[in-house]
Amino acid sequence: MSEKFSFQCQANCSHTKARAGVFTTPHGVLETPKFMPVGTLANVKTLTPAHLKDAGSQMVLANTYHLHLQPGEHIVAGAGGLHKFMAWPGPILTDSGGFQVFSLSQMRTISEEGVTFRSPRDGRMINLTPERSIQIQNELGADVIMAFDECPPYPATRQEVESATDRTYRWLKRCIQAHSRPDQALFGIVQGGVYPDLRSRAANQLIDLDLPGYAIGGVSVGESGDLIAEIVKVTAPLLPPNKPRYLMGIGTYREMAVAVASGVDMFDCVIPTRLARHGTAFVAGGRLSLKNARFREDFAPLDESCPCYTCQNFSRAYLAHLARANEVLGYTLLAIHNVTELIRFTQRMREAIFADRFTEEFGHWLTPAVDRA
Ligand code: GUN
Ligand code: ZN
Repeated sequence: MSEKFSFQCQANCSHTKARAGVFTTPHGVLETPKFMPVGTLANVKTLTPAHLKDAGSQMVLANTYHLHLQPGEHIVAGAGGLHKFMAWPGPILTDSGGFQVFSLSQMRTISEEGVTFRSPRDGRMINLTPERSIQIQNELGADVIMAFDECPPYPATRQEVESATDRTYRWLKRCIQAHSRPDQALFGIVQGGVYPDLRSRAANQLIDLDLPGYAIGGVSVGESGDLIAEIVKVTAPLLPPNKPRYLMGIGTYREMAVAVASGVDMFDCVIPTRLARHGTAFVAGGRLSLKNARFREDFAPLDESCPCYTCQNFSRAYLAHLARANEVLGYTLLAIHNVTELIRFTQRMREAIFADRFTEEFGHWLTPAVDRA
């Protein structure tokens, strides 16, 4: 790992594999475990960088697929890179685009070379290969960049998953070859679907390449929460203890608690901002739909114990009114709260790990789900 990056484990839980650590990047630190908000198109929907900072965000995400389609990486590079372009001075991570091609674009063809798809914006054909993804991510300039991987769908046959997992490894080696910036850390992604032996083989292949960090991909693609927990439980402990571990696309209370107990450090998910736009708030380990009639005359804050701007200044009745009227401010206020809440949840886990009270405080999340949130 280049000297600009380091990961230090600061505390270990004595009953689970949970750990607290600090991941240092050229643009600042990420204290783990930590939830990272998603800014697909170089913005976290409805939030300014000031909102993100107040919410406790340290690292935010952006996406190669979306930024390549618009405005194009040359524009971002022209602005001086993503940090300047989106005015987020802290750490940034870009996803590689592979996953988004598979989930968002029609008319795609996958070959050993890469993926070809039709732009949903203007219909032109676009090629994304491991080399191209890395070149785009080098131009975007995030602190952490992700390998270009093939995420198999769920359900898929073992043969399909094995072929995607092996291809992901071959593509990773091409990504490493193409990667040229020492101020960017390239993370590998463990695929392998729901097959423990494929996960284990993929993890061992990645570890041999000695990368600065490792992600678990191919989860939350349609499998049950219990199956996600099982995959994470077998995969996370295979990864080196002295490198950050990132579980991709996960961000609900239970899934994060279960993953932290297995030794995961980093999370991202669009769920807090997406649910905000549907009038839903994360409160006290559950979800409140502000469009429910019972909130129309509820003049209490969303969460009495929450320090966020929304909870300090506005009532449930006001948020319910904005949600019903589809007012843009309502999306912003709920997004401020939701992002604050999920980051605080990961921060509370971090503090509990330092105090060695993780199982006392979060153990109730680790039993099989009855009411999921
Ligand atoms: N985001 C959520 N899951 C994945 C995955 O498997 N691969 C990539 N590249 N991004 C993801
Ligand atoms: Zn709040």
